[in-house]
Amino acid sequence: MIQVIKERHSVRTFENKTISLDDEKIIQKVLDDTMQETPPFQTPVKLYFLRNKDAHSPESKKVGMYGYVKHVPAYITGSTQNTKEGLLDFGYLFEKAVLELVKRGFGTVWLSGDFDNQDLENFARAGDVVPVMAPVGYPGYKQSLKERFLRMKQEASDRKKHEDLFGVKDFNSPVEKNHPYYEVLELVRLAPSALNKQPWRILVDEDVFHLYLQRTEKFPAQAADSEMINMGIAIRHIMIGLESLKHSGTVAIADSAPRPEGLEYVVSIHVN
Ligand SMILES: Cc1cc2nc3c(=O)[nH]c(=O)nc-3n(C[C@H](O)[C@H](O)[C@H](O)COP(=O)(O)O)c2cc1C
Repeated sequence: MIQVIKERHSVRTFENKTISLDDEKIIQKVLDDTMQETPPFQTPVKLYFLRNKDAHSPESKKVGMYGYVKHVPAYITGSTQNTKEGLLDFGYLFEKAVLELVKRGFGTVWLSGDFDNQDLENFARAGDVVPVMAPVGYPGYKQSLKERFLRMKQEASDRKKHEDLFGVKDFNSPVEKNHPYYEVLELVRLAPSALNKQPWRILVDEDVFHLYLQRTEKFPAQAADSEMINMGIAIRHIMIGLESLKHSGTVAIADSAPRPEGLEYVVSIHVN
């Protein structure tokens, strides 16, 4: 999985090809297996596969907040409770599904927005929110011009520096390369995030990670808080990193966690 995290990037242009029935089964199994897992706050998250009814329209299409996507044969999506814990659990589970799909050669991109879709309403539990629609398909050989422009604009392959995101006990002490959790944090640095804002800030104190959210001013208002979803993705990447070190993690909201100014405390992960 670590290799998958390192190689994944958002795909917005797909081959103009329908998903085969065999591949639909593979995608559905990834979603079913992911739903079997209990997320940190035990929210009942539902995941769905939906074929795109107008997959073959020749134009790039704007979906979600800012994504121009082309030839989308299908989507994976899902629903969750619209609470902090519900969105963390959604990010945590959905990222697992995304990585499993990338591992199997599919392309995807997280698209957030306010989705008003009859098909989704039929699936979702009453009162739940549908925070993301992620196109899934066979990655296109060429990126569309719009996609190339978007990536340039966002410097999509760019990430903030390790020392700007993470610290040992406080944010003035960078996590050195020889620190046992340097590589675990590196996996968070490479994670996808809405608008590529990389809002995760993390303090390591012995065997505890404290996770904070650096909110972006004037972040576009949406039905579900995408910034909190990013934090669920970060939890997933930390867990994958810990697993590779033969450890596991327990996620909890800890009253005793430090509260640096200007950051929103989210959760702590205790290494076992
Ligand atoms: C919660 C979330 C929401 C996102 N929403 C959108 C979106 O609405 N439109 C879009 O084009 N990309 C969206 N993205 C993809 C990010 O722009 C992308 O992950 C980021 O630019 C980093 O690029 P990479 O995924 O290629 O590493 C979203 C990503 C996340 C995690």
